Amino acid sequence: EFHKEPRHLDIASNGLMGKFDRAQLQRGLQVYKEVCSACHSLKLVSFRNLADLGYTEAEVAGFAKGFQVPSINPETGETATRDGLPADRFPLIYPNEVAARAANNNAIPPDLSLMTKAREEGPSYIYSLLTGYQAQPAELLQKFPNAVTPPGLHYNPYFPTLNLAMAPPLVADNQVTYADGTPATIDQMAKDIAAFLVWTAEPKLEARHQGGLAAIIFILIFTGLAFGAYRNIWRGVK
Ligand code: HEM
Repeated sequence: EFHKEPRHLDIASNGLMGKFDRAQLQRGLQVYKEVCSACHSLKLVSFRNLADLGYTEAEVAGFAKGFQVPSINPETGETATRDGLPADRFPLIYPNEVAARAANNNAIPPDLSLMTKAREEGPSYIYSLLTGYQAQPAELLQKFPNAVTPPGLHYNPYFPTLNLAMAPPLVADNQVTYADGTPATIDQMAKDIAAFLVWTAEPKLEARHQGGLAAIIFILIFTGLAFGAYRNIWRGVK
């Protein structure tokens, strides 16, 4: 009873004919880069995919260059890092699981590429989770005195077990300065990153929506034709 269902997030990509709001996706990318990427990877997304958000090739190349990606010297087998290229994917954050856990109170920050698909009501959940941190309700502790949030965890009624290892990542308005001038309230940043993660998980969402509409129109026309053929064949038969 203390666990809450996500608050519904209204974004442009929702619904049968929803389309991405590209300005919002760009803001979400900025939140990912400046906040979430301290801990979370986005390993299924290539930098070149960012052209979908409305960036030019040069902007994509410049963005990719801001990341260091692992590289193996084919001659010596030595590993090093180099500047990212458009063909690279977003790099991992930690070299391995042990390092990830060591930095995060023994929890692993999951990859965010498919997070909106992995959780029910994905974008609403992410939005609610990010804006849902609060003090433990007094009634909870009255009823279950042992339910005090353990040290290093954080109470959040939208998280299935109520306590999670992620400290609130969005803590202040204007934590990022949006390139498009949108006021960066905590609420806005949470919405934008949720919208962006819908795109990372399903970049072809718009094509799916359009294909669905075309299929429905086709089926309606075909049904009309089939009905006409049926009437024609049985004409005069009683
Ligand atoms: C877990 C999103 C920033 C550390 C998660 C989860 C999401 C998420 C969706 C999964 C919750 C679940 O399993 O249902 C985000 C977003 C961020 C962000 C959108 C940026 C706005 C950060 C940062 C850190 C961090 C900066 C590290 C300082 C973690 C950890 C977990 C986690 C350790 C695992 C929690 C647990 O299983 O108890 N995050 N995160 N996150 N995040 Fe983040």
